Amino acid sequence: MATRPTRISCLKTVHITAAILVLALALFTPAPAHPPLSSINRTSAEAASRLLWLSAEIARHDDLYFKHATPEITDSAYDALKREQQAIALTALTATASPISAPPPPVALPTTAPTPRLGDDRNGDFPSAPHRQPMLSLAKAYTETELRAFITNVEQELRRTDLSWLIEPKFDGLAISVTYQNGRLLRVLTRGDGHQGEDVTANVSTIPELVRALPSGYPQWVELRGEVFVDHPEFTRLNAEREESGAPPFANPRNLAAGTLKLHDEREVAKRHLRIVFYGLGAWDGPPTAPVSQQDLHARIRAWGLPGIETFTVAHTPAEVWAAVAQLGRQRPSLAFPTDGAVIKIDDRSLQNELGTSATAPHWAVAFKFTPERVSTRLLAISLQVGRTGIITPIAELAPVVIGGTTLSRSTLYNADSIARLDLRLGDWVFVEKAGDIIPVVVAPDITRRAATALAYILPSTCPACGSHWVRNDGETTIRCIAHDCPGQLRRRIEHFASPQVADLKGLGPATIATLVSANRLHTIADLYKLTHEDLVNVVGISGEGALSLLAKIEHSKHLPLARLIYGMSIPGIGRTAAAQSAQDYTDLARWFAAQSKHSARYETDTPAALQDFLSQPENTLLIKELIALGVDSKNGPKPRATAALELKTVTLTGTLPTLSRAEATKRIEAAGGRVTQTVSKRTDFLVAGEGAGAKTEQARALGIEIINETQLLQRLTP
Ligand code: IVH
Repeated sequence: MATRPTRISCLKTVHITAAILVLALALFTPAPAHPPLSSINRTSAEAASRLLWLSAEIARHDDLYFKHATPEITDSAYDALKREQQAIALTALTATASPISAPPPPVALPTTAPTPRLGDDRNGDFPSAPHRQPMLSLAKAYTETELRAFITNVEQELRRTDLSWLIEPKFDGLAISVTYQNGRLLRVLTRGDGHQGEDVTANVSTIPELVRALPSGYPQWVELRGEVFVDHPEFTRLNAEREESGAPPFANPRNLAAGTLKLHDEREVAKRHLRIVFYGLGAWDGPPTAPVSQQDLHARIRAWGLPGIETFTVAHTPAEVWAAVAQLGRQRPSLAFPTDGAVIKIDDRSLQNELGTSATAPHWAVAFKFTPERVSTRLLAISLQVGRTGIITPIAELAPVVIGGTTLSRSTLYNADSIARLDLRLGDWVFVEKAGDIIPVVVAPDITRRAATALAYILPSTCPACGSHWVRNDGETTIRCIAHDCPGQLRRRIEHFASPQVADLKGLGPATIATLVSANRLHTIADLYKLTHEDLVNVVGISGEGALSLLAKIEHSKHLPLARLIYGMSIPGIGRTAAAQSAQDYTDLARWFAAQSKHSARYETDTPAALQDFLSQPENTLLIKELIALGVDSKNGPKPRATAALELKTVTLTGTLPTLSRAEATKRIEAAGGRVTQTVSKRTDFLVAGEGAGAKTEQARALGIEIINETQLLQRLTP
């Protein structure tokens, strides 16, 4: 559990604490002790009701985060709620301690701010098992001052300043505990409530880096603590796949990792390429003796062939600690794994033991949380965008604002519920945040700047493109236009078909497509093959020469590789990978289609079910028959499986490769079914970097795109 170590697990406790504080606030009307927080400047009744709301809201977010892996708000928005709660609580307690004469409180009040508790990720779907040693959380520091205060405390506690500190990245995934008994993998548990976790051994065992048998030097029993996470290249790949298949994207790598660990389908888990890293120790029954330091632990983890932390720093003074933390913060955008901070630990394990732990966190370590970049801008409007599979996505139209070095004027609001959840009003000032490599998101309205005239947003009940009523399936957050003839979906489908990933029809851009759709020249992708020279010249206004060239490209696209054609049909649930899999055993469109129709009753897996759904609609089978009649053959040729690694892959080259020239590399990639682009974009599958590689490598890292060398390219090219 990386990002929210101090969640309150029990709703009841929160309410009791809140009720006590509400009473305290009602009895005393203190002068505000902490003026910066607006809520503290309120009357005590207002603060009390705010506190109740905060407690319930925090408990609700704890549940969403820990149990369901579907948080609705960002970590920093959550932290802000917690800090506000604590600030109000502290004010109330300051008031009770005030010398001003007042009646004694009717109930015993806590003497400090509410103690943070651990969360609970168990949802009862997996069997529970106990941890031999509790899995604790970490105290947090948000500023250099807070970090230095932590170090000073430890120095005072130990009465010495000659300490060795380790600074490690804080991985943003899901905490796990892996037990090895006599060197053999016994089980993997989630943190649960810190004492009992859920057994996710089967799912975590899909990770190839997880060694089943330790080679040597292992004790009879060891609990290794670590994190399961999804790295940036995989997050980018999975989200691209979801986008391609018309599914809503995962909001961040942490949600994806947490959600994946709780799936009941190991094959699906395996497809998501989870990763694991180890950084801590629970129980250890030696011999051999347990590691004497954190560095010793890292060395043992490495010696056992397990993935450990490779990028830790050793520091000896507060200044060195701060420099290492700051350095990690600078490196963060180029790291391939998701991290939301640094963990600072005392190296020596006997000193760790001397310092001990509280009920929730060790006294010998602290997590420094990197603050996401945050800017304010106006929410000008909310528009609805219809995708090619009918999903309607609300988009925040923003006054342009610079964040993470780029200008942002639109940002997805993911789904209709998020507008109400965030309580966004048209004209609001909103906060936009960019955490690490994650795309900027609108995190909250700034209610202190809300105009009385700000209008609540009312979600239209119809599709913005065709006016038909949208539908929402039970339990889904997405809304969908299901009108088959929706011109909005149609434009998107044709744009997709014309894109470089499918037919690469340069000259057929969104404006031309929109004109042809509104002039009733295009109703399906098959109509592309019926376009005439006259349509393009008279309706669209393209030059005669331009029209000839576009018609030639359209004609040429009749022979697209089958996988591309299937992908180009915008079948909900069928992205590039599923299209390539479906195409691989057939030589052409007609044979593929005949086989689908014949075997449709026998489909078992998700992907073919999506295809089956599509083919069960008469207009879709008619479309394919029409494509075949128009001469679309999409011959596959004799190659399929051998070069599948580059089928439909977008590759960028940079620097000088040791043996291949640019032209040769391009030719070979294209021959293997791939496409070579000059620039790195989010569509790039991998970058091949040679000597002297520069900016493109940085861009690829920032986008989480895989970077390989020539040898790796050649391996992928070789059948
Ligand atoms: S040490 C006693 N080291 O962060 C707790 N934790 O917010 C020992 N985490 O629950 C944890 N990277 O899931 C440690 N390098 C690292 C970490 C790390 C990520 C997670 C861990 C913990 C949470 C606290």
